[in-house]
Amino acid sequence: MPRDVGARGGGRRMGAADTGTSIVNIDGSTLGELFLPCRACVYWERPGQFREAPPEEAERLKAGWFRATAEQFDPCGKLLYVDDEPAAYCQYAPPECVPGILEYEELAARVDKDGVFISCLFVREGHRGKGLGPRLLKDVIEDLRNRGCKAVETFARDDSDNNCSGPTRLYLAQGFRIIASKASPQGTFSLVRLDLGG
Ligand SMILES: CC(C)(COP(=O)(O)OP(=O)(O)OC[C@H]1O[C@@H](n2cnc3c(N)ncnc32)[C@H](O)[C@@H]1OP(=O)(O)O)[C@@H](O)C(=O)NCCC(=O)NCCS
Repeated sequence: MPRDVGARGGGRRMGAADTGTSIVNIDGSTLGELFLPCRACVYWERPGQFREAPPEEAERLKAGWFRATAEQFDPCGKLLYVDDEPAAYCQYAPPECVPGILEYEELAARVDKDGVFISCLFVREGHRGKGLGPRLLKDVIEDLRNRGCKAVETFARDDSDNNCSGPTRLYLAQGFRIIASKASPQGTFSLVRLDLGG
């Protein structure tokens, strides 16, 4: 068992017996398991301090974001373990909780205010290319559907995997559709949406 997975993190969901994977909600007892660089990244939560905040301050800000967001939308993140090692992470919340969305200007204007926005889907090096990202995404989608959410969205990247929530093809493979796309010097990004019927 990962340390600190107690009653509040007890939503630990075992995977198939032969895979050794499991998924937990991020909460007060599991947040400490979130790995770097994600644990100290406030790109979405505090875009103005993303490059400026020292790592310890960024970690404090990130933890504060999880606490505040969970008060209105709980859980807002999940960790996937391979055996006892945290291997992948996903973060999602109503758009009003994610100020970094506004940095995407035209795409931001198309985000559904009543939907849920995936800001991060990240698989650690050494665990990539094994289907863990799609597996965690599927779990998040199931969670949001069960919670009666209307839709789930993200800014995916068309021309590279190097993006906070990964490449556009990963989302299209899960049934998402492209709402709008924008090319920029940083890359070509698409707002993708999956309607959940809630
Ligand atoms: C992008 C990312 C989220 C994808 O997650 P992943 O677990 O590595 O995804 P995979 O490549 O295993 O899965 C996707 C592919 O595998 C296939 N797949 C699905 N289930 C699978 C399984 N059980 N086993 C193997 N492959 C599977 C999918 O069809 C897909 O195919 P394609 O990519 O060739 O089109 C992950 O690689 C990542 O975090 N990369 C770093 C991104 C980055 O640079 N971020 C920086 C900003 S924070």
